[in-house]
Amino acid sequence: MKLIIINGPNLNLLGSREPGTYGIETFESYFLKLEQNFPQVALEYFQSNIEGEIIGKIQTSDREFDGIILNAAAYTHTSVGIGDAVKAISTPVVEVHISNTYAREEFRHHSYIAPNAKGVILGFGLMSYELAVESFLSEIG
Ligand code: DQA
Repeated sequence: MKLIIINGPNLNLLGSREPGTYGIETFESYFLKLEQNFPQVALEYFQSNIEGEIIGKIQTSDREFDGIILNAAAYTHTSVGIGDAVKAISTPVVEVHISNTYAREEFRHHSYIAPNAKGVILGFGLMSYELAVESFLSEIG
């Protein structure tokens, strides 16, 4: 199974960014653990602070991967373009958030991605990503 994690803006700062909300681990360090915990999965990781790059990666990941794990970060709440990209492809997308966006500001309660996602996992810290991998594995298990 081939899965790609696509992270959006400011998630390159995990580890130092708002640690009370996002924890103290860098994504690079967490990603290494994910790879070790799921040796049966070919995992790829892409991060960008640029909306168009995220849209491009979603498009080129279509059919290249069995699934996309997408944390579009702030673009989740603003980007019609990313929502449309998710709608345009046939590869299933699981939307992920580290924090429980529903327990935060009102503007984080809406997602342009969720209506076209296979499912949404949020609020479990970095473990949200593991749960997303599990969700793809459980389908073939
Ligand atoms: C986030 C939640 C978003 O509201 C926020 O803009 C982020 C991170 C999360 O993973 O909890 O940057 O997607």
